[in-house]
Amino acid sequence: MITIENIDKIYSAKSSEPFKALDSINLQIDDGECIVLSGVSGSGKSTLLSIIAALDKPSSGRVVVDGELISKLPDLHASAYRAKSVGFIFQHFNLLESLSVEDNIIAPLVNAGIDLSRVKEMSYRAMKEASIEHKASQAIRELSGGEKQRCAIARAIVREPKYIICDEPTANLDRDNSLKFIDIIERLHRSGKSIIIATHDPLFANLPFESRVIHMRDGRVVDEV
Ligand SMILES: Nc1ncnc2c1ncn2[C@@H]1O[C@H](COP(=O)(O)OP(=O)(O)O)[C@@H](O)[C@H]1O
Ligand SMILES: [Mg+2]
Repeated sequence: MITIENIDKIYSAKSSEPFKALDSINLQIDDGECIVLSGVSGSGKSTLLSIIAALDKPSSGRVVVDGELISKLPDLHASAYRAKSVGFIFQHFNLLESLSVEDNIIAPLVNAGIDLSRVKEMSYRAMKEASIEHKASQAIRELSGGEKQRCAIARAIVREPKYIICDEPTANLDRDNSLKFIDIIERLHRSGKSIIIATHDPLFANLPFESRVIHMRDGRVVDEV
């Protein structure tokens, strides 16, 4: 369970006035929910996701994930939390273009000291779940956008994280690949994952497996459906 209590995020740069990107956010996300965060560009969706993933810290307030105060974690513990609990999927895929699908997925695991044969098993399972196992040895730069995003899904789920966080995951996909992406998300949801998707893609507006759509505007939660 994720509990967000009274979060503010203020960006301060020397060159400009401080800017309040998140303003008094309170939110509870229960295990097994699939939540859509919607709102126009600039409303604070990515900022909120990066705080939930402990990639950034709030200026005030608390985020508690399964009893752990992740808004105060030192960097080393924050990366351990991410590795164990969070799979992050980005709009621009963030893959290494010259490496193969499989190598993109296994590189972080091998670096983490996990045994290679175990790593291969884990990556095969993840590629299968993301329907990309048939491209395992192909270089990323030779893939379509949809295939790249499925590789990114496989990389995100390879350690079986409890939380899957997606930031505008279909922004660079055509309709067909977006629908395939949604199918995979539905499967992951059915397998018990908690999922948070920031998007303004209308395809996500009324999915039967969504638990809530949360609307943001100017750094605030304005509406929950
Ligand atoms: N590192 C930063 N420094 C200053 N302002 C930022 C930074 N990151 C985001 N912002 C500002 O915070 C607001 C919210 O951004 P963001 O969370 O990316 O919104 P969204 O994902 O909904 O488009 C925007 O106005 C953006 O310009
Ligand atoms: Mg964003």
